[in-house]
Amino acid sequence: MKRGSFNSRLGFILAASGSAVGLGNIWKFPFEVSNGGGAAFLLMYLFFCFILCFPVIVSEIAIGRNTKKNAIGAFNEMGKRKWNFIGKMGVLCGVLILSFYTIVAGWVLGYVFEMVTGNFSIADNFGNYVNNTTSVLLYAVLFMFLTALIVSRGIEKGIEKAAKILMPSLIFIILSLIVYALTLPNSIDGIIFYLVPDFSQINLTVAGNALGQAFFSLSLGMGMLITYGSYIDDKNNIISSATLITLTDVGIAFLSGLIIFPFVFSSGIETEGGPGLIFQVFPQIFENLGGTTGIIVGSTFFILLSFAAITSTVSLLEVPVSYLVDEYKIERKFSVWIVALVILLIGIPSAYSQGKSELFTNFITYFGADKPIDFMQFIIDVSNDTLLPFGGFLITIYVAYVWKKNNLSDEISKGNPYYKGSFMEKYINFSVTFICPLILGSIFLLTFLNKFFGI
Ligand code: TRP
Repeated sequence: MKRGSFNSRLGFILAASGSAVGLGNIWKFPFEVSNGGGAAFLLMYLFFCFILCFPVIVSEIAIGRNTKKNAIGAFNEMGKRKWNFIGKMGVLCGVLILSFYTIVAGWVLGYVFEMVTGNFSIADNFGNYVNNTTSVLLYAVLFMFLTALIVSRGIEKGIEKAAKILMPSLIFIILSLIVYALTLPNSIDGIIFYLVPDFSQINLTVAGNALGQAFFSLSLGMGMLITYGSYIDDKNNIISSATLITLTDVGIAFLSGLIIFPFVFSSGIETEGGPGLIFQVFPQIFENLGGTTGIIVGSTFFILLSFAAITSTVSLLEVPVSYLVDEYKIERKFSVWIVALVILLIGIPSAYSQGKSELFTNFITYFGADKPIDFMQFIIDVSNDTLLPFGGFLITIYVAYVWKKNNLSDEISKGNPYYKGSFMEKYINFSVTFICPLILGSIFLLTFLNKFFGI
């Protein structure tokens, strides 16, 4: 069986940025920023992306390209079978993430239709909307179906082609919405909240959330970039690809803040944060725009979100599929539909966890916490805020102490003749050996103890 590959360097960058840019940037980022006190959170997030995550991105792509294998097989291929638990953890984590992500993507897709029909009052009924589980699940199935369709067409004809169409459209829609947002009255208050930091807001919880957000947003720590990296050739310059992916992801998160906070502040609606933020605030804003303008801006916004989401779900689905295709020689199409089905089933409790079922809504109470949290939040805590940073930590340990720095340098310098001896090489090597294991390890440990055990 021939293994797929990206046809062009741009195709890889667009697909990897497409994975990075998703609901994480436009749905999750704004409410994390408002829970984290605004600009203080933003600053930490930027620091984590550029300083701590960048070396992990480079490491993952290098492992993938070196072995031309999936997230688990890559470790076997290097003769380090004992370490393939990093990949196994990654595949599991990807399955968990995709299970709740599809449900939220289902909300988004449903909102496209609500906006098109001008049903703005849905904002006040968000609680009922998410508890109409039959319709939420139908939209989630539709979203998963579209995702599976793209992945089943393979790398070049499916993933790369979709990214080449969707990513430029996404950027165009975002830019138009920003221009619009900045012309609204009072938009400046939103900009101040977003950009002027209040350092007293920084604490361990905020730092832990900012780190989890950085990993989630960059699609990092679970082998997605090992998988995509396995589809590129040696001419590809890993450092410049990683730079472009990081800049696109951080850029779009930053820009979506520039849309959302002016909108929120100019509407005078309190930022109550939480996963409902964009679903509850936005339709009211679109309604105030009136008639056709409201319908056009509103549907454009949720179409933008759907585009962003689908290039991400595609990458999440590709990780387990690539594993089944490489390691068990199961045909791609068959793997895709089976994995998609299993993940949808795992997602059902998340759909029921927003009030519909008592069991899943008050799912678990952590030690030292006074309130139970719902099933979806539990999955988010385990996967995003725990497994991803832990995975990133293990990847840097693996690269620095098992695979060894000189092999990493050899791999990176294949598409980058000036790499050896450069400042970038020293920086990457120093980070994977000391900074990343130390800082990722300690923030991970502290937030883990704090979140689950109240210590
Ligand atoms: N980065 C995506 C977002 O911001 C989500 C995502 C896609 C992801 N693939 C991933 C997160 C792999 C973690 C790991 O919405």
